[in-house]
Amino acid sequence: PRMTDRRKTISPISSHDMRKRARSRIPRFAFDYVDGAAGEENAACRSRAAFTRTCLRPRILVNSESRADLSCRFLGRSWSVPFGIAPLGLPGLAWPGADLAFARAAEAFGAPYVCPTPATQTLEALRAAAPKRSMFQLYVGASPDITEDLIARAEAAGFDTLLVTADVPRPGKRLRDLRNGFGLPLRFSAGTLLDLARHPAWAIATLRHGAPRLANLAPYARPGAGARTLAQVMAAQSSGRLDWDVFGQIRRRWKGRLVLKGVLDAEDAALAAAAGADAIQVSSHGGRQLDGAPAPLDVLPAIRAAVPEGFPIALDGGVRSGEDILKAMDAGADFVFVGRPFLYAVAAYGPEGPRALFDVLANELEAAMAMTGRKDLSRG
Ligand code: FNR
Repeated sequence: PRMTDRRKTISPISSHDMRKRARSRIPRFAFDYVDGAAGEENAACRSRAAFTRTCLRPRILVNSESRADLSCRFLGRSWSVPFGIAPLGLPGLAWPGADLAFARAAEAFGAPYVCPTPATQTLEALRAAAPKRSMFQLYVGASPDITEDLIARAEAAGFDTLLVTADVPRPGKRLRDLRNGFGLPLRFSAGTLLDLARHPAWAIATLRHGAPRLANLAPYARPGAGARTLAQVMAAQSSGRLDWDVFGQIRRRWKGRLVLKGVLDAEDAALAAAAGADAIQVSSHGGRQLDGAPAPLDVLPAIRAAVPEGFPIALDGGVRSGEDILKAMDAGADFVFVGRPFLYAVAAYGPEGPRALFDVLANELEAAMAMTGRKDLSRG
């Protein structure tokens, strides 16, 4: 007789639970890469603290019955929820095939997936997995030829939205990675081997899949260039010349929608709008760059006040629940991106995880809307 469907149905409760499970399921160096931040991790803590100290405004006796409408428009498109997956470099370290799982989950859910330059699968393959929902995140590296080639490839693959990440003029100083001696390609010290032996599911999946690599950048690698630290790889590919002139060149070059990611200052926000950005993403890179960076949620109102009326603003950093998403929107965000929780989800549950996280966050957001007396996300 046919066996019943043996696919495990997973029912994670929250992004925090996913983080806990991720922590025990993947090697320490991989978890630290995902979970860590720059310096003393103050900026990362601050991003979270801004959410925990912010309250929503409860309203009663409104809309208790019908399900709130989570759909919204952003960058000229309709989305089923007002949040998506932030660009996450080297996600294959959280779980093999993570990028593809993200792209597929976003496409199925009707939410954006941002394919990062340092993806562990090619932008062409990821675009194909999320043909209606994907955007491309560009790092401007040391070589203008590589930057141009990446833009041309993104265009040819059919991406219509480009996010230029501007907060990496230097690689972030991530103490956990430095202490773990974490670099690319992965080196296997005695400590790493022990770490792998303690996390056999990850180790076996990774063996089967092959060690994660920066698939988009592989064509430009010099053969036999040898091992370099992650900091060196990142520096070459993400910390090239990027100023308002270069941003202007990219604006003229890119026909689609252009988003400047990594804005934390009201003056920069106004400059971005004047330079022809179609939107900005208020972000401190999850606290992984400048440890003294303010919380995105805290600076959002001043940034909102500094840009033209109706100028689209996305926010990321520290969003861990549906209530957080609503708080960000109340503070002036049109759209929200979620970073680490998607990595926790895939580390905790494999390819099924991202889809489950979309469900968790959407259900939390819907409940929060009901408890704040909202039927939909329209303002006013
Ligand atoms: C990132 N982030 C990021 N941003 C970007 O523009 N390009 C990238 O390649 C990466 N890579 C990356 C890797 C990892 C492991 C993390 C955690 C983050 C930053 C990301 O897009 C986003 O700004 C933050 O993750 C948002 O903060 P939370 O949601 O992680 O708190």
